[in-house]
Amino acid sequence: MPAAKKLPFLQLLPAFWGPYQQLARYLRPYKTRFALGLFFGVLAGLVNGIIPVVLYIVAGKGLPKIPSTGNFKLMEHLPDTSGISLEAKIGILMLIPAVVVARGIFSYLNSYCLAWVSFRVLRDIRTHLFSHLMSQSMAFFTQAKSGKLISRVMNDARMAQTALTSIAGDVVKAPVSVVVNIIGLVIIDWRFSLTTLVLFPICFFPVIFFGKKVRQAGKNEENEAGQMAVILQETFAGIRVVKSFAQEQHQVAQFDQSSLIQCRNSMKVRKSMEMVGPMIESVSALGVVLALVYVYYFHVDLVKFGALCFGLFMLYDPVKSLSRIPMQMQKCMASATNIFDLMKLQPAIQDAPDAVAITSCRGHIVFDHVNFSYSHDKPAVGNIILDIEPGKQYALVGASGAGKTTILALIQRFYDPQSGAITLDGRDIRTITQHSLRQHIGIVNQDTFLFHDSIYENIRYGRLDATKAEIEAAAKLAYAHDFILAQPDGYDTVVGDKGCLLSGGQQQRLAIARALLKNAPVLLLDEATSALDSESEKMIQAALERLAHGRTVIAIAHRLSTILKSDKIVVMDHGSIVETGTHRELLENSTLYRKLYQMQFHHHEEGETPVPA
Ligand SMILES: Nc1ncnc2c1ncn2[C@@H]1O[C@H](COP(=O)(O)OP(=O)(O)OP(=O)(O)O)[C@@H](O)[C@H]1O
Ligand SMILES: [Mg+2]
Repeated sequence: MPAAKKLPFLQLLPAFWGPYQQLARYLRPYKTRFALGLFFGVLAGLVNGIIPVVLYIVAGKGLPKIPSTGNFKLMEHLPDTSGISLEAKIGILMLIPAVVVARGIFSYLNSYCLAWVSFRVLRDIRTHLFSHLMSQSMAFFTQAKSGKLISRVMNDARMAQTALTSIAGDVVKAPVSVVVNIIGLVIIDWRFSLTTLVLFPICFFPVIFFGKKVRQAGKNEENEAGQMAVILQETFAGIRVVKSFAQEQHQVAQFDQSSLIQCRNSMKVRKSMEMVGPMIESVSALGVVLALVYVYYFHVDLVKFGALCFGLFMLYDPVKSLSRIPMQMQKCMASATNIFDLMKLQPAIQDAPDAVAITSCRGHIVFDHVNFSYSHDKPAVGNIILDIEPGKQYALVGASGAGKTTILALIQRFYDPQSGAITLDGRDIRTITQHSLRQHIGIVNQDTFLFHDSIYENIRYGRLDATKAEIEAAAKLAYAHDFILAQPDGYDTVVGDKGCLLSGGQQQRLAIARALLKNAPVLLLDEATSALDSESEKMIQAALERLAHGRTVIAIAHRLSTILKSDKIVVMDHGSIVETGTHRELLENSTLYRKLYQMQFHHHEEGETPVPA
């Protein structure tokens, strides 16, 4: 395509077209309303364009003759109207409010329909983007900054929608208006119109030039908005750390810096957008000079001159809107590109096309020569061979960084091993749908996460269709019922952001109640390393025991009691399993276990005796 090489804008076309096509896909469900909006736009443009001609006719037919003065040969071209009755004249005069009202109605309907469509498109894009983000695997979320993702869903989608609305609003109305208006001007006096509009095409240059600038600046603007969201999100999420280290001013300074960059970016966008209007006005001013020169030489009558000037004046607004379209398009494109780049990402973990949704499981988990590394340089776990029998309790022990949490992540299929396989009841977990797999796994994490909602809703999260009685039963089993009733609003007490209105031990018991409610056959426990007071320690221990009953349990153990109760202990070191056996066997045979036992568990011994159930 040698022609395309010569014309750089042709090469740019796919870059424009791609995001637009994708946006257009979102318009499809609302195409009738959208077409209706465009249709009203055409009508509004038509009516707007014919106003000068209407004025010319009305002035000619509805007004008494005005005596001629100076250079203007007034009314000489207009037909004699003395024969027309007063009623008819009033009727003709009423044409002016009639067209203005019609224009108003059509403009309103045009804006209404397009706004209706664009807000629905915004909703669809946001929901689609959010659900696409939800489908991403854990690897994505450990890399991504959540503030940036929030900004993409909120700001970019909004920006694309705003730009889309204004483009759609103007894209037919303005050109129709301009064309009809110019035709009207030509009909009234073609020589005058040609003289004044000869400079018109010059307007395109600033539009193209500044349009490019808007795109780049718009992209920077959106990126910095993302950065601001990151600072906000991290500051609020980590407010305890911020306050403890007295770093409020540091956070404010960071935010202020980002805000300043944002201010400059927005200014760049604004400068480019606002530059175009005055440039067009300057060109128009030259047009006025030409118009006056024309009037001077060709003696135009006053009514015609008035109508022509009015027509030119009416041209200003749609031309200005028209000139904004390329900028709006550039802005829309910058945001749409950001959104669709995210939508293009394929989740690293996907269900196989023929994956089965399991409805029950015994909880027999086998690691068959599993090797896994987060990044390609260093394996996190290597050559894991482990047979976890159903209904038994396993304890994972090992130094920090030994790969214990990684084992739990692999069982939940947050990541796929690079080699080897993990099976559940003899079935490779890669052939099970992620949803059904995780439905059969209950987990109590090292750090509990509670939503800013009531205690009731937080427990219900384990199984959304649970009844009130089931939720209370779960709370009772988790030794949480009593402290819940002691809260100001009982089960309706709101726990605050991430559960901060409750103590650490209380939060953990809610998390256990949630896992109990889920009633899954496989239970993964990442025991908290943080020392709790012995009372809540005992309660949690007892709650966990109830939770473990009759299930396959894999617990990352930091408490002696967990270890003592386990059927088998798996000792990990540097990503490998070095030993398995019972507490007694390992104490006798394993030096590493003896060392771990001395360091981690032995000194806890006293406070660890569980409360009787
Ligand atoms: N998301 C991740 N991306 C990259 N590397 C990771 C990630 N999570 C863990 N690692 C690395 O994998 C190794 C095993 O980590 P893992 O979290 O499984 O240790 P652990 O045994 O649970 O330790 P701890 O007892 O301190 O919780 C560590 O070297 C760690 O640095
Ligand atoms: Mg861990």
